[in-house]
Amino acid sequence: MIDQLYRKAVLTVSGQKFVEDLVRSRGWRVAQRFVAGEDAASALRAVRELEGDGILGNLDLLGEFIDSPEQCSAFAERVLSLLDQANAAGIPPYVSVKLSSVGQGQTVNGEDLGLTNARRIVSRAKGYGGFVCLDMEDHTRVDQTLTQFRLLVNEFGNETVGTVLQSYLYRSEADLAALQDLRPNLRIVKGAYLEPPSVAMPDKADVDASYRRLVYAQLRAGHYVNVATHDERLIEDVKHFVLAHGVRRDAFEFQMLYGVRRDLQKELARQGYRVRAYIPYGRDWYPYFSRRIAETPRNALFVLRGMLKG
Ligand code: FDA
Repeated sequence: MIDQLYRKAVLTVSGQKFVEDLVRSRGWRVAQRFVAGEDAASALRAVRELEGDGILGNLDLLGEFIDSPEQCSAFAERVLSLLDQANAAGIPPYVSVKLSSVGQGQTVNGEDLGLTNARRIVSRAKGYGGFVCLDMEDHTRVDQTLTQFRLLVNEFGNETVGTVLQSYLYRSEADLAALQDLRPNLRIVKGAYLEPPSVAMPDKADVDASYRRLVYAQLRAGHYVNVATHDERLIEDVKHFVLAHGVRRDAFEFQMLYGVRRDLQKELARQGYRVRAYIPYGRDWYPYFSRRIAETPRNALFVLRGMLKG
């Protein structure tokens, strides 16, 4: 409950224009802990650095609040260019995409623009042996995202496209069951949006219990799972589960956010687990940055200290 109140307070305050202006002008230096840079070259450099620690990368071009069809298609072009640049640099392109940023919900030439653009992105990634994960946004987009995920898996295969389920949503276990015929590649997260209690569990213990059920169900079914959390207790539980059930280490991976629990990321990689860092970059870093601060007061203190140092 306190977690929820804290998150709500941060997201409300960070939504104020003057706070955004202040953080944008003074906060870039601190934001760099969580955001790899403003362009693709910086993001690719971050992938190379992580490689040194045995950690894989998942590139995410930040771009929320893009709304016209032209902006969405221009954004999709930038993702295509990222795939080209990664491939040219010899980095297997693994990217995450928010369907809203490429036009989900807008009909152009009789088709959802998000689906049209996602198809172009997934097709390009497939040509390079890459992978595209469709990020999950707020609950109003879940139905359409899962429908479009199904279409894309049928067209390009589950080795090229995956999506995300959020354990705070009551519906996620039913969604997982309904996706099983696809042998889906799923990232399981707790969920980062401010959701009403009618759709999302308000109690952290319930969210964690639901998280375990989702991950274990995927592992039992033998479908690839991306265990995306910084929660050490959950990570330990998953390690025990895979050991007890003889799950191979190449049947799952741990995922964490760039700049968060770097010690734990390195340690898991050292122990021989597959670990992937989600590497956001781009000029539009503020909303992403606000969500990270909303996750833990430790980050708010880190940012305040950094900004006060000037
Ligand atoms: P929780 O928030 O319970 O934190 C557990 C512990 O981890 C904390 O006590 C703290 O020690 C540490 N920790 C967590 N967050 C931290 C932070 N920001 N800074 C420092 N320490 C932190 N969400 C979504 O809705 N849709 C999506 O598509 C994705 N995608 C995604 C990809 C990847 C790779 C990750 C890791 C996460 C996401 N998320 C997401 C975000 C996710 O829903 C969730 O908000 C965060 O991961 C925080 O939850 P934890 O599972 O880490 O646990």
